[in-house]
Amino acid sequence: MRRYLVAGNWKMNTTRETGVALAKAVAEGSTSANGKIDVLICPPFPYLIPVSDAVRGSHVQVGAQNACAEAPGAFTGEVAMDMLLDLGCPWVVLGHSERRHVFGESDETINRKVLAALEKGLQPILCVGELLEERQENQTEQVLDRQMAGGLAGVSTEQMSRVVIAYEPVWAIGTGLTASPEQANSAHAHLRKWLESHYNPEVANALRILYGGSVKANNAASLLAQPHVDGALVGGASLKAGDFLPIIEAGVQATK
Ligand code: PGA
Repeated sequence: MRRYLVAGNWKMNTTRETGVALAKAVAEGSTSANGKIDVLICPPFPYLIPVSDAVRGSHVQVGAQNACAEAPGAFTGEVAMDMLLDLGCPWVVLGHSERRHVFGESDETINRKVLAALEKGLQPILCVGELLEERQENQTEQVLDRQMAGGLAGVSTEQMSRVVIAYEPVWAIGTGLTASPEQANSAHAHLRKWLESHYNPEVANALRILYGGSVKANNAASLLAQPHVDGALVGGASLKAGDFLPIIEAGVQATK
């Protein structure tokens, strides 16, 4: 049985004060998730410490939204994996579509980050997903294959136990257009088949594949009910406890 993971990606939002308040509200409002599903929040870098402090001792975990593949050194403006480890921040989102399409990260760059995260003992959430025109041209599976092969190059079977994949169709991110539960499930099933052929059935069966792209309280249950959907990576709806808590609860209910 794969354990659900509901993750909130705050992107470049909140202040220290509103972020800490949101983190506390998530921890206090989602105690039904404790021991049942994994709950993760990913604040901007400057708020990793106060947000980690705010949820310490609770079931809520904290992750970063990105990090640098290089070891600490002369890389102005970057944050090393070692620094996340130092903070006790076990998760890092890598290859998010905004990193790919706004900041021009290639599969090769993302792969170096994935390998660096795994080498440090962190748990990467590797995001993959097609553009609207790629879907319209029936290229979705090819794009996913390329991003999986590129992002996971050199990752060992043993390391795969710490990897989570997030399928986030770019056309569904922040647009209000959600993939239908069937579209999500079919892309996830394809990803699982890829994992089976490039690793083995055990890896494919154990690895969690999250769906992301306009997940809201009113569509979370139907997405999470799909057999290959093991959680959600939530952007906009993770910024208000009142929006995020029902998504966590949908994961708790789907666990039964
Ligand atoms: P959204 O973002 O939920 O606002 O569509 C998802 C994401 O970018 O991870």
